[in-house]
Amino acid sequence: MVLEKPLRSFFMFLAKNKMLNKAAKKWGLKFGAAQVVAGQTIDAAMNNVLKLNEQGLHCTLDHLGEFVFDKEEALASTEACIHVLRAIHESQAKCNLSLKMTQLGLDIDEAFCIDNMRRICAVAKQYNIFVRIDMEDYSHCVQTLNILTILREEFDNVGTVIQAYLHRAEDDVKNLKGIPLRLVKGAYKESDEVAFQDKAVIDDNYMNIIRIHLDNGSYTAIASHDHNIIEKVKAYAEENNIPRTQFEFQMLYGFRTSLQKELVAEGYKVRVYVPFGTDWFGYFMRRLAERPQNIGFALRGFFSK
Ligand code: FDA
Repeated sequence: MVLEKPLRSFFMFLAKNKMLNKAAKKWGLKFGAAQVVAGQTIDAAMNNVLKLNEQGLHCTLDHLGEFVFDKEEALASTEACIHVLRAIHESQAKCNLSLKMTQLGLDIDEAFCIDNMRRICAVAKQYNIFVRIDMEDYSHCVQTLNILTILREEFDNVGTVIQAYLHRAEDDVKNLKGIPLRLVKGAYKESDEVAFQDKAVIDDNYMNIIRIHLDNGSYTAIASHDHNIIEKVKAYAEENNIPRTQFEFQMLYGFRTSLQKELVAEGYKVRVYVPFGTDWFGYFMRRLAERPQNIGFALRGFFSK
């Protein structure tokens, strides 16, 4: 698509626009966002999680939140995460929790953010629920990895995400041997000083870091909608006797739903990332930026509402 590059840049620009992100909280799920965001409340999202569980799919819930610059909002996000943990525990859903460090106050004060994380990890530990720290843009990468190291000294139920487009990804994966990681290609726009720009190079590095983590015997979540990558991982695991209990595939809610079910039918563990909440705009714009073909969602949603 000739317009693909400018469209990507346009959606990434919108994703970061603080005014639009704030305004969209009051709009309800617009522009077809309901196809990829599982509701605005925990009840709506949990309903969807339980339906996915019935189909053999595991889930991870994400209470959407970005651009948090005041402590009250960060504390409210912390409470919301704890509320999600309780809902998972009470419903006995096959589900864990994903969250972002900026949502818990990383841009305000790192120590405050760590304290919020400690509270969340302690409740999650009590309920035997795993907590995944999503990886945000490069400016938060080092801090996020430092926070993970601190938390891992106290909790074994926490892990993070490594982005294959970053030059540092291979070293990070090697340093994080034994820690459950979600491996992704990377969703943000980063400079060529820190990130590979060429799709083929990113794909190669993605397979490279997947092999390293699997060969290390570490639990690996391969989070991708790319059927070529998924086929390569299946073949690699088969050829190298990597047990299916050592890895899982992950996909986003509303994306490649047939492929999700096919993998379950083949006996693979698949986890769906289920975002919910009123702070949906940045998440939705990043999904459009990744795959401008999804603009169909947005246009259909725009004209039908
Ligand atoms: P990519 O976009 O590279 O597409 C490769 C090919 O796959 C396409 O050319 C097409 O053939 C096929 N394909 C892809 N999507 C399709 C679709 N919807 N329908 C049909 N075919 C399709 N990023 C990040 O920076 N930090 C994070 O914490 C996370 N977390 C995360 C969790 C989960 C569960 C997922 C799935 C992804 C993330 N990501 C992320 C996003 C990730 O970094 C990446 O931007 C997207 O997954 C897009 O890359 P893919 O590997 O999915 O395929």
